[in-house]
Amino acid sequence: MPEPQDEGATRVSAERPAPPRGLPRVTLERGRVLFVSSGAIGVTALPEWVLALRFRYGWSVRVCLTHSADRLVSRHALAALTQAPVEGPDWPTERGVVPHQELAEWPDLVIAAPATTNFVAKCAAGMADSLALTTVLCTGAPVLIAPSIPENALLRPAVRRNLRLLEEDGYHLVPMGPAVSAHRGTVSPSGMPGLPAILKVAARVLEKTEKSDETEKREKAEQAEKTGRESAIDAGRQPVG
Ligand SMILES: Cc1cc2nc3c(=O)[nH]c(=O)nc-3n(C[C@H](O)[C@H](O)[C@H](O)COP(=O)(O)O)c2cc1C
Repeated sequence: MPEPQDEGATRVSAERPAPPRGLPRVTLERGRVLFVSSGAIGVTALPEWVLALRFRYGWSVRVCLTHSADRLVSRHALAALTQAPVEGPDWPTERGVVPHQELAEWPDLVIAAPATTNFVAKCAAGMADSLALTTVLCTGAPVLIAPSIPENALLRPAVRRNLRLLEEDGYHLVPMGPAVSAHRGTVSPSGMPGLPAILKVAARVLEKTEKSDETEKREKAEQAEKTGRESAIDAGRQPVG
């Protein structure tokens, strides 16, 4: 199976496309964005968003779908538009990688959009029963969460508590916005935020990350990792996935 087209992304970014009016300037170290998408109807916007990020920002984009998302959006369209295999809902091992680890380490930024009520709850509970959730748990990249919550569900204390928990745990919530309910045709206040709102939060979050001198922290962690690996192998311990 071919690897995602980082080379293609480099070629696009060499042209340094300017973001269109109304979209913020966002700097990503390696220009890599991973969408983790769950099963809200807003997932049908994903192909368009992928295209905007590839060609307006010059980024390399990959997508990981839950089972429900996989039923609502065309993975074939997403594969063509990202120029990369779509990840999830299965856990493929043919490529010779541990899928959640490879996917978790790849991006500079994870965008969980749309994030369903179910996804938000599982994420807040630290659950890992899908490739999408496990990747979010394992990544060191900043994670933005763009929820899409049915209006009445948002009245439930449990749902509000889960959203609060995510923020307390360091996830970056993108405020929901008004959206037309696919069911009633009325306007609901708890729709998935649009791409400009998501990118505005991304710009703010990544600016803060840059300022906290991530490179030095990462180099120290890599050195500690090397020492730990050598002693684990010497002690004959079994690997973990
Ligand atoms: C057409 C359609 C639209 C849906 N929209 C939403 C939504 O906006 N928000 C939500 O929380 N669930 C929505 N759901 C329900 C979720 O798909 C369902 O709760 C599912 O279990 C979520 O699984 P996932 O989080 O693993 O993707 C929708 C389902 C369908 C079929």
